[in-house]
Formats: sequence, structure tokens, C-alpha cells
Amino acid sequence: MADSPAQFRGQARLPRFAAPLRYDLRLRPDLAACTFSGAAAVAVAVSAPTRFLVLNAAELDVGRASIRFQDLAPTDVTQFEEDEILVIGFDRELPIGEGVLAMDFTGTLNDQMRGFYRSKYVCNGESRNMAVTQFEAADARRCFPCWDEPAFKAKFKLTLEVPSDLVALSNMPVAKETVSGPIKTVFYEESPLMSTYLVAIVVGLFDYIESSTSEGTKVRVYTQVGKTNQGKFALDVGVKSLDLYKDYFATPYPLPKLDMIAIPDFAAGAMENYGLVTYRETALLYDELLSSASNKQQVAITVAHELAHQWFGNLVTMEWWTHLWLNEGFASWVSYLAVDSLFPEWNNWTQFLDETTSGLRLDALAESHPIEVEINHASEIDAIFDSISYDKGASVIRMLQSYLGAERFQKALASYIKKYAYSNAKTEDLWAVLEEESGEPVKDLMTTWTKQQGYPVIYAKLNGHDLELEQAQFLSDGSSGTGTWIVPITFCCGSYDAQKKFLLKEKTDKMHIKEFTASQSSDGDKNIWIKLNIDQTGFYRVKYDDELAAGLVNAIKAKKLSLMDKIGIVEDSYALSVARKQTLTSLLRLLNAYHDESDYTVLSHVTSVCLSISKISVDATPDLNNDIKQLLINLLLPAAIKLGWDPKDGESHLDVMLRSLLLIALVRLGHNETINEGVRRFHIFFEDRKTSLLPPDTRKAAYLAVMRTVSTSNRSGYDALLKIYRETAEPQEKSRVLGSLSSSPDKDIVLEALNFMFTDEVRNQDSYYILGGISLEGREVAWTWLKTNWDHVLKTWRSSSLISDFINSIVSPFTSEEKAAEVSEFFACRIKPSFLRALKQSLERVRISARWIESIRSEPSLGEAVQELLQGAA
Ligand code: BES
Ligand code: ZN
Repeated sequence: MADSPAQFRGQARLPRFAAPLRYDLRLRPDLAACTFSGAAAVAVAVSAPTRFLVLNAAELDVGRASIRFQDLAPTDVTQFEEDEILVIGFDRELPIGEGVLAMDFTGTLNDQMRGFYRSKYVCNGESRNMAVTQFEAADARRCFPCWDEPAFKAKFKLTLEVPSDLVALSNMPVAKETVSGPIKTVFYEESPLMSTYLVAIVVGLFDYIESSTSEGTKVRVYTQVGKTNQGKFALDVGVKSLDLYKDYFATPYPLPKLDMIAIPDFAAGAMENYGLVTYRETALLYDELLSSASNKQQVAITVAHELAHQWFGNLVTMEWWTHLWLNEGFASWVSYLAVDSLFPEWNNWTQFLDETTSGLRLDALAESHPIEVEINHASEIDAIFDSISYDKGASVIRMLQSYLGAERFQKALASYIKKYAYSNAKTEDLWAVLEEESGEPVKDLMTTWTKQQGYPVIYAKLNGHDLELEQAQFLSDGSSGTGTWIVPITFCCGSYDAQKKFLLKEKTDKMHIKEFTASQSSDGDKNIWIKLNIDQTGFYRVKYDDELAAGLVNAIKAKKLSLMDKIGIVEDSYALSVARKQTLTSLLRLLNAYHDESDYTVLSHVTSVCLSISKISVDATPDLNNDIKQLLINLLLPAAIKLGWDPKDGESHLDVMLRSLLLIALVRLGHNETINEGVRRFHIFFEDRKTSLLPPDTRKAAYLAVMRTVSTSNRSGYDALLKIYRETAEPQEKSRVLGSLSSSPDKDIVLEALNFMFTDEVRNQDSYYILGGISLEGREVAWTWLKTNWDHVLKTWRSSSLISDFINSIVSPFTSEEKAAEVSEFFACRIKPSFLRALKQSLERVRISARWIESIRSEPSLGEAVQELLQGAA
């Protein structure tokens, strides 16, 4: 064993005795046969005595006889598929120093949207293949044998042999091209030091548009032939983002060019490959006439996110996947910074609280994980591209920035980028730079947030003139975990003019606030309000005692609070109610205080809480369900009526978003007039697709309205939507239809929509739209469908994180212990690492709902309160 190839099995990481310096790679994809062949010559530095070279390879046929290290032929070559490694053994120790490892290999252009894969598109009515790569996290090894870990940075020199009529792109610009009949050979310039997961290739038919940054870097957007006008918006955002990041990180864009390209089959939303960023079509293309305001925002955020990675991720790369959040958390946070500067009217930092909310919701599960998570096998990496790495990651960065101050923070980030450029960094490396630049105890503070899962709820209580605080880990199941954090506390009293901040380091602490309150309130302590966690910059929740809570309700009604604080209060209150720390009754009373709200950012959180209440009440209080729905409708209706269905000249981007949000919510709550109006407009639109009565922004609401009226005996609405789906070439429009199809209350229609997912009319990448739309009435039939079709689902989606969506969307809506047990039992013998976490989290959600229901049923005055609130509004 000691001297056998098997000694390298079962390791999380490759041995370090040899490392790549330069890859010379030649690849020849065959787009018709869906195969490829390749040759690699890798300059390797051997740094310690070894008889072996160990690198990654998976699903590749490596030509044994072709392997040479300098002029040495190996004596044994073993490929361990499970470990995804290739062990090349020689009959003697390799000389310390540099040598070239050469080999030939072949592989398949797969249909799994990872590694080197094929995507399909239609050109001139003819179906064609393109060849695309997606290597993050650990799939470069499916394209060529390599040291496939982020810390093994090397230079890459690629050569592609492709059909002469196609566009062939890679990370670097073309250095030379030679044509020989139907095949051209494209030689690319050598890249700077970079990680394998950022290497990219795209081969297909495309058009492009081009612009350049203030430094003269050429930026292009590639689209399908004839669609370049849809790339203009992304090109503009791209060029401006590059200029902005160059200043923010005080470092120029590191490569000679940047291409961005839309790929019709794409597992994620977008991928930041160095110099060749790939996107799902919906995340890159924007069309004035065909896209919605929310499509536009999504494109801007996605472009800004991927381009941020060109510095944070590509130039400075995480040392190992444990530090993935450094990539994703930062890119997410910085993308808001960029988009805020490009589109200040979008109020982007308030919208950022969507991220914080998703992070807080996921991290309140016992089945969450710390931001920094141990990774033992490549198959575990995909699962951590989740709300913890992205949303909690981005939120704790915002928390730290707000604690240190924007300027100090930016200066430190710029030094960090300079210090680790072309190299790798760990989380603590970033803390060290920030600590040095700021003189603050950054490492101690932040370690409590990144190495420990969960977050605290701060219990705040007024005792005379003392504000007493106590922290305890917040969990949605109502239990208290054991964690403690160093919490940057901020608060203000009666006004935002005077703010206090300090670090809560122990379990409890108190602040004497007499002078503070006296100076802020002219009418004594009456009507005083105290808001902790000003503008929700901290990643924690607050539970106020009754007196403080009442003060805040008054402050909301009196319009004294910032948008962010209003969002924080409703979100915390909702979460506390789910965790049975406060009653649904009191949550409904609080919601009532948002009656006059007209701001999109606030109402987007309010509606999400409303929809969740409406869902739980179906199971918890079926008798009250209609009344509760009516109450929630009453809450949202005034703002919806003000906006109407038709866009108004000169109205703001956020009002356009709000219209769509409210109409969708009203349809989901079963508001008849909204449903009828949606159906009416849909019929007109169906006859005349150019009608102004149903622009892209309100279309989804109308589609959902139609689906609420569809049943097996009255299925014309469903068929009409299918017709629209088949007739449109626009991916965003297709996604709107797919997201509606499964939302009928009729089980057989839901089943039909789910089965539609298996036809070749729906791309595998789009399954989650249908899954995300399943009606509450359809959850049982969806579960049966999943069990019946599990083998097929697993086979088709096994290798992407999309598999988790099947579990999440279908399991989470259940609300009983019995169902949780049934689901557990079904998966007991079917579990795989790629969806284990999703399953555990979904089951936990089911059990949390079950307990919430118990507690709602025992609320003595819920019915009365609902009646009282209904009357009050009348
Ligand atoms: N690096 C990711 C893409 C990725 C995700 C690769 C999962 C492998 C597995 C990329 O930078 C990213 O974060 N994309 C986001 C979009 C963004 C706007 C949050 C995505 O794909 O959703
Ligand atoms: Zn990212």
C-alpha cells in the first residue's frame, strides 16, 4: 500500500509534491458526434521525492501509451473513478525540478451542463449543437487531466481545432488562426496564473457587439445570431462595472479582453470564467419590449456579480472550497455596490435585505452550516453554493463594513487584492489585512460569524432607564442553540439623529440610556421608540419586550422609521412567530400597521410574510383561512388599486416592480377581482400579442390568474399558455409561462405540468420554474409524481445542484410529522451527497411548520383578533 497507487485514494486533496506551472492544451471537439479529443503538455514542478504524479481526471479516456514525463514512460497508470484521480507511476523517483508531462485523451461532450458539454440551439430553423464548458466547482477534470484545485494556479495556453465557420472563444484573445479546409486551428495567448475552474471554451455560431472601458479593454457581448440588440444593456452595465471595480479595488482589470456570452443550456445563472463569462440567456439578455423590470434588475446584478469575481475570485482566489464564501459573499455584496452606483433610483441597498432575509431564514435551521465549511470530497462542494455562502456571506460583509466604515473598508480591500493578486487567500488572510488597516479586532469579531453556524436573537428589554440585552442562538424550531457571538449592536431612540453602537461580547449586557432618551424626546418617555440594529446592518434578529414593541408599532404608523427598519421589524416578527416566540395574532396586528405602505422594498417583504401566513393557515386554521386571506388582501389592496394594471408615464422602476408584486400576491391570495381582470386581459393578449393591456411586467400575474381558473374540464387556459410557450422564442417569456403551469388548483393539471418537464420541449435547466410554481393543492400529487419518477429525475439532474430543487420545492410545503417521516423513509436508501443537505433542510422545514401549526391552533384569541382586524379595515 505504502508504495502503491492506492495510497492516494480517499483523500480530500491532491498530494503537494508536484504542482503544475503551465498547461499547453489542444482540444478538438466533434459537435456532431458529441465527443472530443485532446492533448496536454503540462510543465510540472516536482518539489519532493516521488515515484508518482497524481492529478485529477474523470470520465476521460487517457491514452496510457501516450503518457510521458520528459522522456520517461510510466510503469503503471491507474484511474480511480470514485476519487476522480489519475495516478501515474514510474519505475524510479522523478528528479526534483521542472519537467513536462504529456498525454492524449478523449471524452464525451455530455448533456449534463458540466465539464465540456453540448448545448442546443436553433439557427435558420435547424437544430445545432454548440460546445461549452462549465468547470466550477470541480469539473475541469472532465475535460482534461489536471490539478483541479483552486490553489494550483498555472498559466494556460489553449489551442482549439474547430469547424471553420464557427466562433471559438476562450479566456484569452486569439494569437493566431490557421484554416485548413473545414477545420480551423485557433491559438490563444497564454493566460496569467489562474485556477482550473476558471478555464473556459465556447464553440458555436454567434454574433457580437463591442465596446471598451476607459482603460481601453475590449468588452463584447455574444448572443445568438441576429439578437445582439438584446445584449446592449448587459454590455453597458459590464463596461461601467469594470471601470467602477478598477477604481474600487485600485487594480486594473487583469486581462486583455472580456467576453460575455449567453448559453441556451446552463445549470447556474452565470459563471465568472476569467475573461469569458458565460450566462443563462435570461441573466444576460434584455429587450426593452419583451423583458420586465425585474428581468432588467436581474441582468444588472448578475453582470455586476460576475465581473466582481474577475478581481475577487479570479485574481485573488480562495485557497480551498472551505473559503468559497470569500468568492460568492463578496461578489454578491460588491454587485449591490456597483448596481447602486449605476441605478441609484433602484434603492438597491434596501433591496439587499432580500439577501439578508434569505440568509437569516436558512441559517435558522439546525441543518444549516457554518460559512466556513469542511470539504472532504469534490461531490460535497456543489451543495455549499447556497444562501449561507452567498447571502449570509454578503450580509456579514455588510455588517463588517458598516462597523469599520466604508472608507477604511475599501482601502483594506484594495490592499488585500494587491497582496494576494495571482495567488490564493484564506478567510483569515482577509481578516488580517482588515485588522492591520483598521486597528479593530476584526478576526475575533468575524470568526464568531464565519466558523460558527447560526446567529443570535437579541432580547431587548427596558428596565427603568436601562436597556437590557441578552443574546441566544435563534432557531426556527423554537429551541435555543448554544452559540454566542460578538455582536455589533447599534440602536437609536426616538430619532435617527443620535445613534449608539457597541460590541455585545457576553451573553448579556445593559446600557444606561436616560440621557439618550431624554435628549431625543420632547414629550418625556411617552411615545419613545427604540430601534436596535439600525437599517438591519447586523446579521441578527431582535425580540423586543411588549413595551418596546408597542413603541415601534406606533413609530411605523407615525412614519418615523426607515424603509430598512420597517423591513427588519416585520421579518423578525415573522421569524419569531414561526419559532413560537410570539403569536400569529400579534404578527397579524403588526402587519396591520403597514396598511398605508406604498414602497416596493417594504411591501416585497410584507407580501412574502402574507403569503406564508396564508399558506400555513390552510392547514392550521382551515375555518379561519378565508378570513385571514381577506385580511391580507385588505392590507395589500389599497396600494394595488393605486397602481392599477396599466403602466403610467414616467413612473419609477420600483413602482413597476411593485405593480407586478402586488398583482401576483393578490392572485395567490385568491382575490377574485384581480383574478378576473387578469383573465380578461389574458384573453385579449392571447388574440393580440401586441396589445398594450398586458406588458411583460404584469404578464406573470395574468398567467397565474388564468391557471387559478383552469381545471381538467376547463383546460383552455392551460392550452393557451402552452401555445404561447411554443410560439415564443424568448427565454424570459418561456420562464414566465413555465412558472405558471403547475399553479392550478386541479391535481391532474399539476401532474400534466410536471410531466411536461420531461418532454424535449423543456430544457433540463428550466425544471425549477415548474417546480417553483406548484400549487398548495398540488403538493400531494407532486410528491407521488416525484416518488414514481425518482430514478429518471436522478439520472437526468444528478450532477447539478438543480436536483436539490426537486426536493426543496416538493417536500418543504408539507406541514406534518407524518409526512416528514414518510419522506425520510422514502429517501433512506436513495440518499446521495449532492442533495443530502437539501433533504435534511426540507424535512426540518416540514417539522417546523408542524409545530407552528400546533401553536397557532392553541392561540386563544386568534379568531377574535382576525374579526376585529377585518372590521377595523372595513
Ligand atoms: N460562481 C458562480 C456560478 C456557480 C454556481 C458555479 C454554482 C458552480 C456552482 C457565479 O458567480 C454565481 O454566483 N452565479 C449566480 C448569479 C449571481 C447573480 C448570484 C448564479 O448562478 O445564480
Ligand atoms: Zn458568484
